[in-house]
Order: sequence, then C-alpha cells, then structure tokens
Amino acid sequence: MKAIRVHDYGNADQLRYEDAPVPEIAPDEVLIRIHAAGVNPADWKSRQGLMRQVRPLNFPAILGGDAAGAVERVGAAVSRFKPGTPVIARVNGSYAEFAAVKTDAVGRAPASIPLAHAAGIPIAAGTAWTVLFEVADLRNVKTILIQGGAGGVGTFAIQLAKLAGLEVIATTSTGNRDLVQSLGADRVIDYTREDVARHRDGVDLVLDTVGGDVLKQSLPLVRRGGQLLSIVVPPDEAAAKERGVDARFVRSNLTGIKLEEIGGLVDAGKIRVIVAQEFPLAEAKAAHRLIETGHVRGKIILRVV
Ligand SMILES: NC(=O)c1ccc[n+]([C@@H]2O[C@H](COP(=O)([O-])OP(=O)(O)OC[C@H]3O[C@@H](n4cnc5c(N)ncnc54)[C@H](OP(=O)(O)O)[C@@H]3O)[C@@H](O)[C@H]2O)c1
Repeated sequence: MKAIRVHDYGNADQLRYEDAPVPEIAPDEVLIRIHAAGVNPADWKSRQGLMRQVRPLNFPAILGGDAAGAVERVGAAVSRFKPGTPVIARVNGSYAEFAAVKTDAVGRAPASIPLAHAAGIPIAAGTAWTVLFEVADLRNVKTILIQGGAGGVGTFAIQLAKLAGLEVIATTSTGNRDLVQSLGADRVIDYTREDVARHRDGVDLVLDTVGGDVLKQSLPLVRRGGQLLSIVVPPDEAAAKERGVDARFVRSNLTGIKLEEIGGLVDAGKIRVIVAQEFPLAEAKAAHRLIETGHVRGKIILRVV
C-alpha cells in the first residue's frame, strides 16, 4: 500500500510517500481502508521528536491519528462491524491506504457529510468532548472562555459548549472572527487588537488550546473557585491554587462510542466540521508546513482516495 512514512525525526522533508506493508489484524481489530486522514498538531510534534518521551516512534513510522474510511476486514473476535461499514477512528498511522485498529477506537461515520470531512472529527472533537463533558465540572459554570476558537479543537469546543448551554467567549485573530461567531460564540475577542485581560476574574472556566503566554494570561481570567483546563501543557498548579482555581492538563480520551455520539450530533445538524484545506496524501509535506504555522482554521484533511 502507499503510505507517508518517516525514517527519522526531523522537519517536513522527512515525510516520504512510499510503499509499506498492509498491516495484519489481531482478532479484536478491524482493517480500515482509509479514505482520508485528519491532520493534527500532534503529527508534526511527533515527527519532530517532541513527543519521543511519551510516544517514541518506531521507524519507519506511519504518522497520523485520525482516520475515516470503510471496514475492509474484521478480526475473528469482532462482531460490531462488517466489511463495507463507513467508520471514523483514532488510529496509529492513518497516513496510509490501510490501518489496523482495535474496535474500541472505531465508530460508525456520520452519514450526512463527506467521509473525507469526517476524518477531521476524532482527535479534535473527541478532545473538546473530553474537556467539556468528562473533566470540567459544569455544575457552576455559566461562562467559558476558549483560547484558540478557530483551531481544530476550538471550533468543536465552541459548538459543544453552546450545546451545553454555556455563554461562550472565544479568542481568535481578525480573519477568523466571522467563523468563530458563526459557530455560536457569544463574544469574540480578536487577540491581535483587544486585551483579554478585561475579562479578569470574570470567567468560570477557561479552555486553553494555545499554551505558552496564552496559558499564563489565562489564569487571572478565571474567577476564584473556577477552572482552567489546558490541552497543551500542564498549568502552574501552585499559582492556580493560590488564586483558588482548579487548573489541570487534559489528555483526550477517545472511544468509538463517543465518536458515534459526536457523529450523531453532526447528523442532527447540531455541530459542523470546519475544513480548512484538503491535500492529496502524497502532499503531506505541504499539509505539515501549514499545520505547523499554528494558524489553521478548522481541520486539514489528507485525501487518500
Ligand atoms: N491534550 C490532548 O489530548 C490534545 C488533543 C488535541 C490537541 N492538543 C493540542 O492542543 C493544541 C491545539 O490543537 P488544535 O488541533 O486545535 O490546533 P490547530 O488546529 O493547529 O489550531 C490552532 C489555532 O490556534 C489559534 N491561535 C494561535 N495563536 C493564538 C493566540 N495567541 N490566541 C488565540 N488563538 C490562537 C489559531 O487561530 P488564529 O489563526 O485565529 O490565530 C489556530 O486556529 C495543540 O498544541 C495540540 O497539540 C492536545
């Protein structure tokens, strides 16, 4: 099969479009014929070796964690899926024509959008879901401020937070104001022109998807007793404790069942997948150069078919 593989850590030139063996499946796995792969910041971070302490690559490695496609073959112990079923999944190595995946990371794909666009769902929407519905304590939350409202995670987080009945404030650059508003944000802060500090002590929950100085600037925005959740790096817990804020790093926790719930919201017209740009698989280098800018609007998709 054709795949994008890396043979060493490094820049986007490491990405090679080449032949690779079709993976074997274990009894509890399905083989997915991949239609498209979603591109995530974790892909370039992994390629650069920034994640080698937690998830080292085994070279030659196929990158990519998001897939949409159809079940090609099922393992002997699999009854939940049949060949031909369109699915979305969290996989290890989606920049390829096939991937072997445990069924607990696979869900039926939403039927109302192109399968290629559904490839943008798993990691970004799943992370927003984990933050909002599994880690955040929403009982006393009326207002959420989402740092990075135009990104993969941010675009889903805005929509899911609105579904949860929250008042949403989202930060973005000037060019993405309209997008963020159209997703349901009640207030948009253009971080290139306005200072978020005017919301000091005013927010019940901040979701940080940017990190660095943006994470540092986020703590003072949270009211005493509120929450600061970052998906980028662990917040300064001591500083947060001093301010009476519950601050945590959140890692996504994806299951196929959750992916189907999210797909159900897409089919019900309650959330949308925002696609920034599509590239053929062979042009993964260009896709990586784009995501590495940190200014992608929604999701980048690699089309395998
Ligand atoms: N912990 C986990 O399990 C987990 C899961 C998924 C992702 N992540 C991490 O979370 C981060 C975001 O992921 P993603 O997929 O959403 O990334 P992305 O799609 O690349 O989005 C980045 C977004 O950040 C915005 N941005 C950049 N600088 C900003 C600033 N100063 N203020 C506000 N917005 C700013 C950009 O919008 P503008 O162009 O408008 O600036 C862009 O839309 C990445 O670091 C990723 O590795 C972690």
